[in-house]
Amino acid sequence: MQSKIIEIKNKAIEEISEVKTKEEIFDLEKKYLGRNSEFNQILKNLKNLSEEEKKEIGKSANLAKKEIEDNLKKYERIISESNFDFQSEKIDITIPGKRKKRGHLNILSQVRNEIEDIFTGMGFEVADGPEVETEHYNFDALNIPKDHPARDEWDTFWIKPEEKLDHMLLRTHTSPVQIRYMEKNEPPFRIISPGKCFRREATDSTHEHTFYQFEALVVGEDVSVANFKYIGEQFFSKFFNKDIKVRLRPSFFPFVEPGFEFDISCLMCSGKGCRACKNNGWLELGGAGMVNQNVFVASGYPRNKYQGFAWGFGLERLAMMKYKISDIRLFHSGDLRFIKQF
Ligand code: DAH
Repeated sequence: MQSKIIEIKNKAIEEISEVKTKEEIFDLEKKYLGRNSEFNQILKNLKNLSEEEKKEIGKSANLAKKEIEDNLKKYERIISESNFDFQSEKIDITIPGKRKKRGHLNILSQVRNEIEDIFTGMGFEVADGPEVETEHYNFDALNIPKDHPARDEWDTFWIKPEEKLDHMLLRTHTSPVQIRYMEKNEPPFRIISPGKCFRREATDSTHEHTFYQFEALVVGEDVSVANFKYIGEQFFSKFFNKDIKVRLRPSFFPFVEPGFEFDISCLMCSGKGCRACKNNGWLELGGAGMVNQNVFVASGYPRNKYQGFAWGFGLERLAMMKYKISDIRLFHSGDLRFIKQF
């Protein structure tokens, strides 16, 4: 019996030493230690033996069993280690990295920065005001009284009135920044104020309900229309990178007197006349004028002490002219094919 046990054990150890896969280990475990294994047979038959033999055989059977178990474990570990997949765990530090996708400033922000750069280069300060305005700053202080028909020019988004508060609205232009700035500052000064405006109107290729304007305001004791034309020509020549002429046509805005429509010479034909300017040589840009004395008074300045000029231009319109964009609605469309071009 003893030699039988040793024989089984040696055979098992030999077979175990040749295994290649975990499945084979599993099969050998079943074969040598499982319920129907020869060892189990021997242990089952112990009861038929004498006390002496029981002790002796039982002991060596258990020792042999233990030895087989240890060998199974040992080879299982060897197989696991040799199967470790070094290839997939390998890090190749010579592979070129993947470039991270980077966003960039929207074309409107780029144009706004460009405008601010040119004006700060000419000694202007950049001023800011709220997008949610009061009726006072957006209209009354700009010499547009409540019942004045000119108010209809600005289709307004009103904000639900709150008790005790002045009527609130989404500013329809950047002109209220003029008042806010003058309340806090004494002339002489030069400012521009770019910002978002809102109008309750139908949209088409040149109108948006949300758009940007930039206001300019220059005030001093002897600021004239000539200064105004000069600054305008300087700015637009820098912005469009070519010599630009400015033309003023009489117009009306309650906050200026005299008021003008501000035109620049056509970017394509420089004034000769072409398809882009419908053959008249000029492109219309926006409103401008000499600040109405009522506006100075509403801002806390004495009447007739100062003179100044102001304008309010659409930022999108400038961007459209410079980059030949045909539809204002593209700016806020979120269409990446458009945005990525700039
Ligand atoms: N605020 C006017 C508008 O949005 C534009 C404007 C006209 C601004 C004349 C001015 C100005 O500063 O002098 O229609």
